[in-house]
Amino acid sequence: MTMLVAKNIILGITGGIAAYKTVDLARKLVQAGASVQCVLTESAAQFVSPLALQAVTGLAVRSALFDTDAEAAMGHIELARWADILLIAPATANTLAKLAHGLADDLLATLALATKAELVIAPAMNGDMWRHPATQTNLALLQQRGARLIEPASGSLACGEVDVGRMQEPQDIVNALAQSQPEPILAGKRVLITAGPTFEDIDPVRFIGNRSSGKMGYALAQAARDMGAEVVLISGPTALPDPQGINTIRVRSALQMLQVVQSHFTGTDFMVAAAAVADYRVERIASNKLKKQGDGGLTLNLVQNQDIVAWAAEQPNRGKVIAFAAETDDVLANAQAKLVRKGVDAVLANSVANGAAFEQDMNHLWLITPQQQQDLGIATKQHLAFVIWQMLSGQRS
Ligand code: PMT
Repeated sequence: MTMLVAKNIILGITGGIAAYKTVDLARKLVQAGASVQCVLTESAAQFVSPLALQAVTGLAVRSALFDTDAEAAMGHIELARWADILLIAPATANTLAKLAHGLADDLLATLALATKAELVIAPAMNGDMWRHPATQTNLALLQQRGARLIEPASGSLACGEVDVGRMQEPQDIVNALAQSQPEPILAGKRVLITAGPTFEDIDPVRFIGNRSSGKMGYALAQAARDMGAEVVLISGPTALPDPQGINTIRVRSALQMLQVVQSHFTGTDFMVAAAAVADYRVERIASNKLKKQGDGGLTLNLVQNQDIVAWAAEQPNRGKVIAFAAETDDVLANAQAKLVRKGVDAVLANSVANGAAFEQDMNHLWLITPQQQQDLGIATKQHLAFVIWQMLSGQRS
C-alpha cells in the first residue's frame, strides 16, 4: 500500500446511498498513507455525516463553492492544484454527465475542471441507469480524456434489485488506487483470457453448468488492460458487464469456447485459462424438452470435451500459456500434476473446498511453475490479478 504514502487525495462524494461507505473509505485511504480532503455535493450530505468524515481525515469537509472561510484557508484553485488524485466515490449518473460535459455548478465539478490530478471514478447507481447509452457515452468520453474507472460490482442494490451498479467495496477502491497508473509492463502485448463457466445444454431448457462467476478471469483481463495489454476476453455466461476497453466475446459451451480461442490464439503473448470449462458435454442435445419417464431415473450419455488450454500449449511458436487448477483436496500436488499433463508454463492453483474461490471477491492462489511453488496469499481477485501479471512478466519474483 506504500504507493499512497504522501499522496494528496480529494475524495469527492456525490449523492447516492453508497456514500455511507465513504467514512470507511476515507479511513482506509488515510491508513494507506494518504492525506484526504473530502468534498461533498449538496445531496451527498443527506447520506453521510461531514463530522464523521472530518473525524477520520482530520480535515474539515468542503462543500460550498462560495464559502469565504474555507476559501481563505485554501482556495478552490489551490485545492485543485494540491491534489494528486481526484477520486469520486460514489459517482452518480448525474455527476458523470456533469463531468463529461464540463459543467462547473458546484465545488466538486469545479475542482474536476480545474485540477490536473488523475481523475478516478467509482460509479454507483441502478443497473438500468448504468447501462443507459447516455451514461455509457459519458463514461467513454471521460475515459478517452484519461479518467480511470473503478467499475461497479454486481449485487443487491438500494432499489431492491440484484444487478450491476454497486460501488466497489472501500478496500477494493483503495487497492485499485494503490495500483493506480500501474507500470505499462504489458504494453504491446496481446493477452487472451478465458473466464466464467461453460453451459452444456441437455435440452432447450436445461444445462450442466458450474458456480464460476467470472470474477477471477475478468479481474485478470482488467489488470492486463490497465497494464497496457491488448486484451481478448472469452467469457462463458456470467452476470458481469463487458469491461471497458476489452474485446469481450461471449460463448456458452466448451465447444464454442474452444472455437473462439482457436480463432484468436495466433500472436497471443499470454493466454490465461481462468474459465471453469466442463470436462464433459451431453452427447446428443435433445431438440425438445425431455419429459419425465415413469418412476425410473434418467441416463445422460456424456462425451469428453477437448482440453482448451492443453490445445493452446501444443501450438508451435506460442506465447506463455497458463492454466488454473481448482481443487478440493491435495491442491498443490494435483496442480503440479496438471502443469505436466496439460503441458503449460504455469498453473495458478486455488482451493475450491468449503465454498472458497468460486463466486467470492477474495481468493487464495499459488503460482506453480516447473521451477517453483509460490504462495501468492489471500487477497481480492483484483489485487491478485496485478500480482500475477507482475510475476508472469518477470517484474516481480
Ligand atoms: O469465476 P470465479 O467465480 O471468480 O471463480 C474463479 C475460479 C475458481 C473459477 C478460478 O479461480 C479457477 O480456478 N478456474 C479454473 C476452474 C477449473 O475448471 O479448473 P480445472 O482444474 O477443472 O481445470 C484446469 C484448467 O484446464 C483450467 O485452466 C481450465 O480453464 C482448463 N480447461 C479445463 C477443461 C477443458 N475442457 N478445457 C480447459 O481449458
